[in-house]
Formats: sequence, structure tokens, C-alpha cells
Amino acid sequence: MTLLFCSNIDNAGLWRDALGRRLPGLSMRVWPDIGGPDGDPDDIDMALVWQPPQGVFAGLSNLRLVMSLGAGVETLLRDPTLPDVPLVRMVSDSLSDDMAGFVALQVLRWHRHSDAFDAAQKAGVWQWLPYRPAREVSVGLLGLGELGSAAARVLTALGYRVLGWSRSPKQLPGVEGFAGADGLAAMLPRCDLLVCLLPLTADTQGILDRDLFARLPAGAVVINAGRGGHLVEADLLDALDRGHLAGASLDVFSEEPLPPAHPFWRHPRVRVSPHSAAATHPSQAVEQVVATVTAFREGRPLANVIDRRRGY
Ligand SMILES: NC(=O)c1ccc[n+]([C@@H]2O[C@H](COP(=O)([O-])OP(=O)(O)OC[C@H]3O[C@@H](n4cnc5c(N)ncnc54)[C@H](OP(=O)(O)O)[C@@H]3O)[C@@H](O)[C@H]2O)c1
Repeated sequence: MTLLFCSNIDNAGLWRDALGRRLPGLSMRVWPDIGGPDGDPDDIDMALVWQPPQGVFAGLSNLRLVMSLGAGVETLLRDPTLPDVPLVRMVSDSLSDDMAGFVALQVLRWHRHSDAFDAAQKAGVWQWLPYRPAREVSVGLLGLGELGSAAARVLTALGYRVLGWSRSPKQLPGVEGFAGADGLAAMLPRCDLLVCLLPLTADTQGILDRDLFARLPAGAVVINAGRGGHLVEADLLDALDRGHLAGASLDVFSEEPLPPAHPFWRHPRVRVSPHSAAATHPSQAVEQVVATVTAFREGRPLANVIDRRRGY
């Protein structure tokens, strides 16, 4: 069995070591070297990838399994060379922990005036600012999957009121659930902060737009850790500049890296992070890949397979 590894951010050497220890006999090639010194592309039957270049699967006629190093697979689904084989996404406790931590960090940052205190310290000013108790602050989560439900657990533990929106109705401890278009309409006016943790699909593309922002209460904060394609950037800038939204924390962008001239970099009420909300750490994520490869080898059902009709 030969695995093709392709990622421009994940460390191939760490993955080779981690997989080699757990799956002796597994041969790994690192894209663009699909032939290798002693093999040809037909040996490759599995791929482990993160946002590979379009067309990466061309010529891999024996590919039987594609595993994503990330939780979101929208770029893979857009690739016309993706074969009709199981596509397995990344699910790991560590990824969920990271995202829950990122969401808590951003919620606390806005709710507890963290940026204002940083600015006051730089000016040498002792500036007390009032804030509401967490249990009187409502955080809405768009998406209650692996990452949304992990964020909900941390936010409820911090005392926040948590509202959550999903495609199918969900019951999670301490979370008021909403589903469908009517559910979204009911949830939005109640959100002091809104967090996007949706997959990017035809249904969710551009969901963070002028219409959605208008349904949030004045002074709301938007946190996007889903995908850049969820956000209509001009609509966000307009809602911020009109004073309807108080701020935004953005981890993902329609163009990454965010271009140097982009207004988000210098906007006083936008906080930018470089798609770093949650990472796939080989030490933690290797177990999922090993479990998938082992199940695949033994012909058992695979977990975390993407439903291509739903798009996630
Ligand atoms: N910024 C980062 O560093 C980073 C890292 C990892 C992942 N992500 C992003 O986070 C996304 C979510 O990951 P996940 O593992 O939580 O995914 P997941 O487990 O598949 O959960 C997706 C959630 O979104 C809901 N959803 C999907 N389409 C919807 C729609 N049209 N209307 C309402 N709800 C909808 C699903 O509803 P159901 O429960 O009813 O299916 C589910 O609750 C990924 O796809 C990726 O884009 C970002």
C-alpha cells in the first residue's frame, strides 16, 4: 500500500515518522513526487492531503481512498480529478479542543474588552469598563458539528448563554438549538456574538452577508472560523463602518494569505488571525489516519466519510 501525501502546511517528515511507527510497511510519497525512485503512480492507492492543487489526482488510476488533513473538504470536492472513492475528513479531539479554545478566546476578547485594555495599557491609562455577566451574554453558533459542539461545551462552562444552529435539529446540553431557515431567523436577533463554524457548501456560501448582519442586534460581534467563502467581506465592512456591528474576529478569508492591501489588516474593529483557529497536529491526528487506513485495509466501514450530496 502506498500513500501520497500532499500539503503546503503540514510537515511531511513528521507524518512519515508518525505513520511509519504505526503502520510498518506503508510506503509514503510526497507530492509532486508521485513516481518515486522505485515505483510508479499506479502503486498509489491512498492519499492524505490538505488543500492540494487542483488536478492533483490526475494519473492516479489506482487511488481507492482520499483522506483530508482538514475538517473542511470544499476544495477537494471542487477538483474534477477527485475520483469517486471514499473521502474521509479529519475529526480529532485535539482539533476540537483547538477550535473551542479559539472561540472562547475571541468571545472573551470582545466581551471582556481585551483590546481596549491593551490600548489603555499602551497609553498608561487605568480605564475601568463595565461588562455584562457572561450568563447575560448570548453566543450563537452557526454549525453544531464536531467543532461547534466542542465550542458550545467550553462556552457553557464559562457561563455564556449558547444558541446553536444546524441543518437537522440538535439537542446538546445547555444549548438552545435551532434548525432551518425559520430557526436561523429566530436565533439571529438574540445573538450578542455570532460564531460561524459551518462547512462551506452551496447552501452556506456567502451566508454571512448584509441580510444576516441586519438581523443581528446592533452592537453584535461576528467571529468567522469556518471558511472565507462564508463571508461577504464588503457587507461586513459596511456593517462595521455604519456602526451596526461592533467588531469581527476573522480567521479565514476568501483569499489566503490575506493580501497586504486588504482593509481587514488595518480596520480598527477587525481582528485577523492566519487560519490558525484549529490545527491538525500529527501527534494527535495520527490515530484517526491509522484507524481509517486499517479499516480500509480490512474492508471494514470507514468513519467520517463525506456525504458528497450534502457537501460535508
Ligand atoms: N479555521 C480553522 O482553523 C478551521 C479548522 C477546522 C475546520 N474549520 C471549518 O469548520 C467547519 C466545520 O467543521 P466540523 O468538523 O464541525 O463539521 P461537521 O461536524 O460536519 O459539522 C457541520 C455543522 O454544520 C451544520 N450545517 C451544515 N450545513 C448547514 C446548513 N445548510 N444549515 C445549517 N447548518 C448546517 C451541520 O448540521 P447537521 O448537524 O444537521 O449536519 C453541522 O452541525 C469545517 O468544514 C471547516 O470549514 C476551520
